[in-house]
Amino acid sequence: MGVITMSLPTHIPVLLNEAVEELRPQPGGCFVDCTVGLGGHAATILERISPSGRLLGIDDDPEAIKIAQIKLSGYGEAFTLVNDNFVNLETICSKYHFHPVDGILFDLGVSSLQLDTAQRGFSFQLEGPLNMRFNPEQGLTVGDIVNTFSERELAQLIEKYGEERHSRRIARHIVQNRPITTTSVLARAVVQVLGGRHTRIHPATRTFMALRIAVNSELQNLEFALKQTINLLRPGGRLVVISYHSLEDRIVKQFMRREASGCLCPPGTVICRCGHVPTLKLISRKVIKPTSLEIESNPRSRSAKLRIAERLN
Ligand SMILES: C[S@@+](CC[C@H](N)C(=O)[O-])C[C@H]1O[C@@H](n2cnc3c(N)ncnc32)[C@H](O)[C@@H]1O
Repeated sequence: MGVITMSLPTHIPVLLNEAVEELRPQPGGCFVDCTVGLGGHAATILERISPSGRLLGIDDDPEAIKIAQIKLSGYGEAFTLVNDNFVNLETICSKYHFHPVDGILFDLGVSSLQLDTAQRGFSFQLEGPLNMRFNPEQGLTVGDIVNTFSERELAQLIEKYGEERHSRRIARHIVQNRPITTTSVLARAVVQVLGGRHTRIHPATRTFMALRIAVNSELQNLEFALKQTINLLRPGGRLVVISYHSLEDRIVKQFMRREASGCLCPPGTVICRCGHVPTLKLISRKVIKPTSLEIESNPRSRSAKLRIAERLN
């Protein structure tokens, strides 16, 4: 297949072989990539399902969709790209007649396109506006949050989504120094509280992550979307999820375990009353992680965890 990549932004797909192997794409298959990004995983799936298979690619970021459209253009009519939030998964699949499907992929988090574009405001290493929304036109920005939330709300958010021990001190300093106008001003404010770099990670990492998760409602959207996959997968169809931090991995793990369980009654219950019917089978209890070789060639893959489940009859 002729795929155009010249001078377009790139993103190295994480756990590419592992994720695609577990999705088991076959010629004629029907797949949904809920986070199509720059089309890395999607291209490999399309390669395997061609010529008669179909792929639906979703991304909240309109810029990513534009680039994926060009990158995947060699696959002709085999794919459909939709600029939407995967929280609307069932509605999108029903609109484009993707139901039932053989596999659904989530490769969560941020793309290199987003991280490396200063104007998007995702990186504390680049000077940019406080935006950080996957869809840069929708909803609150990080600037709105840091400049209008109360000290208490900010501290709670940074603690909950960043698992940051010093959230209260950081929130107090932010509030005392408002307005916070750019990524570097925000990063500096955190460094002023925590001191310079003492560990492997930059002191502002957790605060930036917390704000990104909050501004995009990442955890809530993931929970809602995962529930919708059950109705969409055909029996034997696979759900494959790559997550990048412990909060999202916990949601994926708990969802898969709950759906694979034959009973959801409280522990110690003698006679099951819940009547829960398992809908998924866990394919591997342990997470799949990138090899040291992959991490060496793509350090952004280092925190990735892949989980797989299969739809039961
Ligand atoms: C790690 S990148 C995916 C990269 C892609 N697998 C590739 O190979 O190019 C994650 C993508 O998910 C998108 N995303 C994150 N949350 C989303 C959501 N709730 N709905 C739709 N897209 C989302 C982001 O905009 C980003 O483009």
